[in-house]
Amino acid sequence: MKARSSYLSAGAILVGLCTGLTACGLATEEQAAEAGEQERNIEPRPAPEGMDHHTSETWDSLAREKSQGPIREIDGEKRMVRYDFGGFARVGGANYSDWPTHSYADDTEYPEPQEADPPAEMDGDPERGRELFKDRSMGPCTSCHMVPEADVSAPGSVGTDLRTVGNWAKSEEWLYQMVYDPRVIYGEDTPMPPFGLSGMWSEQQIEDVVAYLMTLTGDEDNEPFIPEGVDNPEYWNPETRPTSASSEDPLDPFVNPALMKTEQIAVPLWSEPGPNGKSCASCHGEIQEGDELRPVGIIEEMEGVAAHYPKWFDEYDRMMSIEDFLAVHALEEQDMELPTQSKENLYMSILVHSQSNGMTYDINEEDPNVQAAIERGRELFYREVGRRNHSCANCHTSNGGGGEWLSGRKLASLDNEDATLVNHPYWRTAQSRVWDIRTRFQWCMSPVGTNYLPGDAPEYADLETFLMSKQEGKEVLVPRYTH
Ligand code: HEC
Ligand code: HEC
Ligand code: HEC
Repeated sequence: MKARSSYLSAGAILVGLCTGLTACGLATEEQAAEAGEQERNIEPRPAPEGMDHHTSETWDSLAREKSQGPIREIDGEKRMVRYDFGGFARVGGANYSDWPTHSYADDTEYPEPQEADPPAEMDGDPERGRELFKDRSMGPCTSCHMVPEADVSAPGSVGTDLRTVGNWAKSEEWLYQMVYDPRVIYGEDTPMPPFGLSGMWSEQQIEDVVAYLMTLTGDEDNEPFIPEGVDNPEYWNPETRPTSASSEDPLDPFVNPALMKTEQIAVPLWSEPGPNGKSCASCHGEIQEGDELRPVGIIEEMEGVAAHYPKWFDEYDRMMSIEDFLAVHALEEQDMELPTQSKENLYMSILVHSQSNGMTYDINEEDPNVQAAIERGRELFYREVGRRNHSCANCHTSNGGGGEWLSGRKLASLDNEDATLVNHPYWRTAQSRVWDIRTRFQWCMSPVGTNYLPGDAPEYADLETFLMSKQEGKEVLVPRYTH
């Protein structure tokens, strides 16, 4: 669908310096010179038509290769090269370039809601339907719905409790429509994907699952029940399932491995000269001995800096997180590659972030560029993408799955002030590695059936800005330590 910039081809790294078509006149060239273009040897490049900010299409990514998700031809097939850990590995090289993404430059449209055309005589097999309902590669329906099956270890609650659907479903045709394209019944923002329309389920498979659903009528009193054979009914039932919150101190080096790794990776890098002989320390000073809030060490010049990110940069014509900025900054100041989502970048970001520990987040919402980014980010948050036609809002607002269980994972509501997403990068115990928020965006997007954008995409910076605008006044505490 679209060509991605190639990964850091040696020497030819050009960092953007355009202020947009609307603003990119002579005056801007002067400004560019003032901003130090000459000394820094940065090539200006044009912004996309009609836009005064960068998109993933115009921004030459400085992300590590797997974060860029390049599309390669492998064994005669187009594949997206993804990370090889966690849920990414499960999705593998699947290429979803026919479906909408979060790129501003992408004008792929998802098909309109469509009436199903169910067969006149439905003859589904309920036993096959039951297996399909539980098949992890087919939905899974169980990640959002409760049905009385003991071998589903953690049924979800994003969707309706279907344990008695056979009693109240309007008809087989209605159920067929629901699975084929639920938007016809529940509107465009339903969290349930159009399984038939998207080609994920065949006509026969939908008939089978409808036949299965019709058998679900509850116990002898037509009441929902917890099936026999469930080991731990409290956990099985999403209503009573306990959440796993860690009560350990994230700034205790014996608890949080990210601290030791920051010490091992970022601290030496801070004073290591780049190819031009300069180090972070030569411009920003040495690391002083740490204290309770900054156990890895104190860098006076970096105090409070991270609390104001993401930040708008005129000279790059986009919003940037600390990670985005470090990749560009290390190249400019040290001729040093520090790709976003690389471990060097992530641990350096932790070192910088931790200098703001105990302070509160305060992005500069007075800046009209930040306001515009918040609006663009909000639009992205509600944009439906991928084969499953999912928006972030489908899973992360209280109108969608926010506060509910998606299988065994409790979904955060991210559009309100109670959201708990602050404090990235953090140590993910489930993955035994640090993640920044961009890896999380990419992770959320993979099972949805969409190609992700490079971790340093301007779109993700806008999305992050929108989410951070809900975090004003929350305390900085990096690196967090959580599941
Ligand atoms: C990402 C979550 C999600 C997945 C996956 C999902 N559903 Fe749903 N489903 C919902 C939601 C949410 C509703 C309620 C409609 C709404 O509020 O928009 C729903 C409603 C339904 C209904 C109608 C119940 C009602 O309240 O009217 C049926 C039947 C149904 N789903 C079946 C399925 C089947 C079969 C699958 C697997 C092919 C499936 N669902 C997969 C989220 C999901
Ligand atoms: C040659 C000098 C030089 C080197 C080397 C250098 N910096 Fe900087 N850095 C600056 C200057 C000057 C600024 C402020 C102006 C700007 O934003 O470009 C800055 C700004 C920053 C900021 C943003 C501050 C803010 O208020 O937004 C961070 C973070 C930062 N540097 C981290 C680093 C790290 C980490 C390294 C090493 C990888 C490094 N710098 C290397 C000169 C340098
Ligand atoms: C199909 C559902 C789904 C969609 C769509 C989705 N996510 Fe997620 N998201 C999850 C799950 C599951 C988790 C992990 C919950 C857990 O493991 O605790 C999660 C976690 C997160 C977190 C971490 C919250 C925290 O506590 O740190 C952020 C941030 C996030 N998602 C952002 C997004 C954004 C932005 C989008 C849209 C680009 C998105 N998600 C789309 C399912 C989804």
